[in-house]
Amino acid sequence: MSQEKFDKAAVTWDDMPSRRQLAAAVVVAIKQEVPLVYQNKTLEIGCGTGLLTCELADVLRDIVAVDTSQGMLDILQAKVGALGLNNVEVKNFDLASGEMLETSDFDFIYSAMTLHHIKDTGAFLAACHQHLKPGGIIAMADLEEEDGSFHDDMTGVEHCGFDTSKLGVLAGACGFVDVRFITAHRVRKEKGDGRIVEYPVFLMTARRP
Ligand SMILES: C[S@@+](CC[C@H](N)C(=O)[O-])C[C@H]1O[C@@H](n2cnc3c(N)ncnc32)[C@H](O)[C@@H]1O
Repeated sequence: MSQEKFDKAAVTWDDMPSRRQLAAAVVVAIKQEVPLVYQNKTLEIGCGTGLLTCELADVLRDIVAVDTSQGMLDILQAKVGALGLNNVEVKNFDLASGEMLETSDFDFIYSAMTLHHIKDTGAFLAACHQHLKPGGIIAMADLEEEDGSFHDDMTGVEHCGFDTSKLGVLAGACGFVDVRFITAHRVRKEKGDGRIVEYPVFLMTARRP
């Protein structure tokens, strides 16, 4: 059901300035928090149209970009061709399925605004852990806990953001260490009554020991 939603949204996904601003802010936060210069094999989960991957492709040697929406992946594949990014592999894959990718020794895994679409956060973080080399790093950006007013359409939304303390404990229980949070961005939305509401977006980084 949520694949259909994202398939439909894919064609105009990049047209919304607030999405591009959010992705750009997450890229800045990742560059600030993670020593990318040392990263080789990289995985993006829930890459969408590649707003992050296209920005990070010049500082990362190899990127596998996965998503469960073929519509999103088709847009990214076209961008990869147009930009001549021969270090980006685009793949339809669900890391929350329990299946393993054929590569499971990534140095770095990143993701933006995907975690809240995945029901079992603990199983998903454990899958990320399994796909990392010892010493590998995750960087996950998502909404801080909100009151359910962020999405106009709740299709496929499994979490109204996250309590970062609980998420940090969960990441620790999945075997991650050095769990850190920073605020990467604040999405501002005007509500029907004219109020402006801010939704903070965190970046969680953590390391597989
Ligand atoms: C809100 S969009 C964010 C897309 C992109 N990261 C961005 O910031 O523009 C969430 C994306 O996660 C994808 N997604 C949802 N569940 C997924 C899963 N289990 N595995 C991989 N991708 C998933 C959706 O298809 C969608 O492209």
